[in-house]
Amino acid sequence: MNLSHAYGTPPSPQQGERLLLAAVDAGVTLFDTAALYGFGANETLVGRVLKPHRRRLTLCSKGGLAGVTGDDGSVRRAIDGRPEALRRNCEDSLRRLQTDVIDLYYLHRWDKKVPVEESIGALADLVRAGKIRTIGLSEVSAATIRRAHAVHPITAVQTEYSLWTRNPEIAVLDTCRELGITFVAFSPVARGFLCDAVPDVAAFDAKDIRKSMPRFEPANHARNLELLPRYRELAREAGCTPAQLALAWLLHQGDDIIPIPGTTSVEHLAEDLAGADVKLSPELLAQLEAHINQRTVHGNRYSQQARGEVDTEEFPGS
Ligand SMILES: NC(=O)c1ccc[n+]([C@@H]2O[C@H](COP(=O)([O-])OP(=O)(O)OC[C@H]3O[C@@H](n4cnc5c(N)ncnc54)[C@H](OP(=O)(O)O)[C@@H]3O)[C@@H](O)[C@H]2O)c1
Repeated sequence: MNLSHAYGTPPSPQQGERLLLAAVDAGVTLFDTAALYGFGANETLVGRVLKPHRRRLTLCSKGGLAGVTGDDGSVRRAIDGRPEALRRNCEDSLRRLQTDVIDLYYLHRWDKKVPVEESIGALADLVRAGKIRTIGLSEVSAATIRRAHAVHPITAVQTEYSLWTRNPEIAVLDTCRELGITFVAFSPVARGFLCDAVPDVAAFDAKDIRKSMPRFEPANHARNLELLPRYRELAREAGCTPAQLALAWLLHQGDDIIPIPGTTSVEHLAEDLAGADVKLSPELLAQLEAHINQRTVHGNRYSQQARGEVDTEEFPGS
């Protein structure tokens, strides 16, 4: 996502290519993209660069939330979970990804105007047609996971999960475990907050999605910054960097959890991958969890408008 969209001006396609090939060289086999990211540009980049390596990679993409072109030619994001929209999204993704089949295809957001059974039914048809191998959901509640899973087995649920966003602990993680669904944790290093170089909120450009996120509003951000000195101390105790500590914490939550950090930097990629080797003691895990959690973090994770688009159980104030 970060190579085409999200955190300010994206890097050039050449830089994106360098990052993707460095990831392949480092042994990364799972890549996550979506029709939404760069309104197709991310899938186009991933498809072009990873084509020679396709056979040994797991390609994941998402539909049901994509760019639509208005009468004035401008493109805006729109949730559309109708079967015909999902079929169109999938065909577009297959073409951009230069592949015959997508390994894991998520419903990016549940379109609340369409029964989830209808959207999943359309994705099940795509499985039967050989266009996608498995189905995932993103940012949905435990109840929606159950409804969807009754139509077709759900392989993965992708939702924000990190030390500072614990919402899946309310019900979604338990439901995934009960139904044998893998949990994919997005924004695992808190969109850069739990890293060495903390984002400079005053320098966010207009395209940076964190500009609209309450946690990065100056007043909340200032209070959240107070959490970092102790957090960094805990990272030093664990013998790792702050980003590695955030990733290691997630990996210690269970073998069924896959964190998917995003980066534009080859150096950060190497640092994040090494987080998989960090071992945390039960004492350190307990201190970490007491220090950063939904009660100690200030500000909602999403703006009011974006909160309307998700269907997850949310801790108050998170
Ligand atoms: N399903 C959904 O609705 C949804 C929503 C959001 C994201 N996602 C997926 O999840 C992926 C990851 O989430 P994310 O990108 O939002 O959040 P993230 O991985 O928590 O954070 C990305 C940010 O952290 C920085 N970063 C990463 N590793 C770093 C390190 N070692 N040191 C310093 N800074 C570091 C990156 O900057 P640099 O570029 O400078 O490294 C980037 O600004 C996305 O790429 C996307 O595929 C899915």
